[in-house]
Formats: sequence, structure tokens, C-alpha cells
Amino acid sequence: VRNGHRSIFHGIESLARRRAQLVGLINGPNPLEVRVEKLISPTAAIVNGRPMRLFGTNNYLGLTFDGDVRRAAIDAIGRWGAGTTASRMASGNLSECCELESELADFLGKRTALVFSTGFQANLGTIAGLCGARDTVVVDEDCHASIYDAVALSGARRIKFRHNDLDHLRAILEDGQRARPLIAVESVYSVAGDIAPLRELVAIKDRYGGSLLVDEAHSVGLLGPRGAGLVAELGLTDAVEIVTGTFSKSFGLIGGFAASSHPDFGCLRYSARPFMFTAALPPSIVSSARTALRKIMAAEDLRRRALRNAAALRVGLERIGLRALGGQAAIVTAVFDDLSDCYVLWRGVLEQGFYANMLLPPATSHGSCAIRFSLSAEHIPAEIDALLAAVKCSWQACRNGRDRVDGVQLFSSPAGIVVGGLPSVAGNPRAVPAPAAAPAPAATLRLAGR
Ligand SMILES: Cc1ncc(COP(=O)(O)O)c(C=O)c1O
Repeated sequence: VRNGHRSIFHGIESLARRRAQLVGLINGPNPLEVRVEKLISPTAAIVNGRPMRLFGTNNYLGLTFDGDVRRAAIDAIGRWGAGTTASRMASGNLSECCELESELADFLGKRTALVFSTGFQANLGTIAGLCGARDTVVVDEDCHASIYDAVALSGARRIKFRHNDLDHLRAILEDGQRARPLIAVESVYSVAGDIAPLRELVAIKDRYGGSLLVDEAHSVGLLGPRGAGLVAELGLTDAVEIVTGTFSKSFGLIGGFAASSHPDFGCLRYSARPFMFTAALPPSIVSSARTALRKIMAAEDLRRRALRNAAALRVGLERIGLRALGGQAAIVTAVFDDLSDCYVLWRGVLEQGFYANMLLPPATSHGSCAIRFSLSAEHIPAEIDALLAAVKCSWQACRNGRDRVDGVQLFSSPAGIVVGGLPSVAGNPRAVPAPAAAPAPAATLRLAGR
């Protein structure tokens, strides 16, 4: 504090103090320096020197290791070089990228698709490119950080409705002041893995004269005809104005897209700053995205396996006595009221060689905490069984009251800053994945309210 003013580093300094406290608490290697030493397959890695089965990487179809997808990237580097070095406005549109856009538009049943450098930027560019200070965006409270940030960037008024609560949404829209709002939802929610009631949302949107944006990040590749997503599965392609998505999950790559049949949607190329002012995707990614798209369209068997794995895990978790959500796509989330139980279970499972994502308030709503598993077509039934055996064993330890760990609240950050974890951690604005930590000593700090 100088002259009564706080330094701009104040917030980050207090976060650093809490991190240091956390490192001391767990009394082991720095959890913020988790190292994935080797990726062996879509579902196996060496993490912190130990073999680990991966149940937290959103690699739904396992395409990161697909031979054709990899070869497409290598060939493209040979033909076009490694990078684009500038935005599409500056360096031009690679013809491969234009092809990809038209293939995506066909795939999604929309007139126009735009490719962005990430899924985050697809939401940012689309919402902030379309909306301005006089608009209102009504957002499901569980929407991804990119949707929240997009609304902030646009300057539009943001109103949250309770997760999947149609009555709350109707009540908000009843207010005539909110003429023709944009309603933003996800088809499969990244934290709980549950799905949005899209038919009802379309009916409400039509009744109040708004538009609907559906982020299909976690459903493209898994749901719908040829993996085109939940909107397509429910026959709502013409009723949903805008669909966004990512190449970072089922595609196994990086990049994002937005699609719409509005005749002027392509003008986002001249209004979406996250499209205009960032480097275009490299040829390798564009080329492998085209290959991944072809694979996805033909991947009925992979889809079936990923969905079967998710359903099996959910049933298994419930049998063990856990409260499990999701499972209609490839995310299954076990929810806990007790932070210590959640942490001890997560840690126990990790110690037995299974990595999942741990989410704590404010990542989760209503004070609960969760362990999120993402399933892949590449998981075999025996691995699901082994994971369930590890969960059961750790849950019994929790139930016996052994290993209570107080102070776990240090993992959560009110600022919603990501403080650790493996790749592909959830992007919920409130999401704070727990670090992959060494065993924590019991009862070091007290949990708030105890
Ligand atoms: C629902 C949702 N939207 C958007 C994104 C952002 O995608 P990307 O990783 O391509 O930036 C994610 C990623 O976590 C997501 O879960």
C-alpha cells in the first residue's frame, strides 16, 4: 500500500501466500509443478514419475494418438511450414482453413462456420462480436468462463439464471426490458456433465423473441448423427441460432468454431476481435482438424464405447454409494458435501494410479465439491472396473473417518484462478482444479465453519 492505494499486484500476492501455505500443508512436492513426463496413449501417462491412468483429460474419442490425424499434421508442416505468423486478416486465409470451415458448416447443418484459434476465443469472438452495450445476455450460471468473459468484453448486460432452471429463465425474460436477449447455454455442462433441456430452451427463446447460443464443446463427437452434437440429435439445428465448439476435446487438437445460418454471420470476421487480432491456427492443426472431422463423422463405434464407459462409471459410482451426476455424454461427476471426503477420495484414487479432476467451491455451486471423471472410447471395461475398485477402497477409508484432511479449502480460490492440475481442466469461471498433490498430512488446518 502506497499513498493509501493498493498495488495492482495485491490480489496475486495474496494468492501466492495461499499457495505457499498450501505447499506447506501438503508437505510434499510442489503441487503447482505437476509434471506429465510422458504421454503414452490417450488414457495413460507418467505423472510425477508414476504410471497414471487418465480420467480427466476430455480425450473423448482418443484422437490425439490417431495415426491419420497425426500424419495429417506432419504432412501439413512439410507442405506449408510450421506456423501462420499472423492473423487471417493479415496473412490471408489458408485454403485448407476455408475448406475446414465449409466442412464444419455442412457437418453442423449451418450456412456459415468460422474457425477460431481456440474454443475460448470462439465464444469470446462470437458473443462480443454480436452483442454490445444495449444488449442483454442471459447466461446459465454453470456456463464456461469464456461465455462470462465474452459478455464482459461485449459490454452487454449479463443476467444469470439458475442452472437448468427454466422457471427462473422465464421469470427473467418476463421483464419486457430485456427485449430480444441472447440466451447462452452449454449442451453438456463441463462441471456436472449434465445436459441442457434444449427443446424447452428453444420454446422459451421463441416465445420471448430472443436468440439461443449453444456451446457444444462436450457433445460434438459424442452425441447426434455423425457426432454433430446434441442440437442435431434433438432435431433443433434450424431452431438454434448459434452453435459454438472446440477442437480441444473430441477432435483431440486445439482450436474452436462458431456456426450460424444467419446470412450475415460471416461478418464476424470483421467484428470479432478475438478472430481478427490473433494468429491463425497453424496448417498442421487445420489439416489434422479436417482429418479428425472425417474420423468423427464415421466414429459410431468410438462414440458407443465412450458413452458406454460413462454410463458404466456412473452406475458403478452409485453402487458404491456416491452421488453421481452426468453420464449422458462422457463426463461423470461425483458430488460431495464434505471437502475432506472429496479431497481424501481424490487423493486416494490418485495414489492408486488414476487421475481425475477435483473441483471445489467456487468451481461448484451451493458449497458442494466434486470429482469429475471424463471418459474416453479408449478406456477399456477392465480400467473402469479398476478405477471403481480404487474409488471403493478410498471411499471406505473416508467412511471409516481415517485420513481426514482439514484446510482443504485452501485449494479453492474466490478469484476463480486455476491453481494447478493436469491438462484439460474445466474452464468454468469458478473452476479451480485441485493440484495433483502428494499425500497430505491429516488435520493441519481447520476448515471454515467447523
Ligand atoms: C464448455 C466449454 N466451452 C469452451 C471451452 C474452451 O475451449 P478451448 O479449450 O478450445 O479454449 C471449454 C474448455 O474447457 C469448455 O468446456
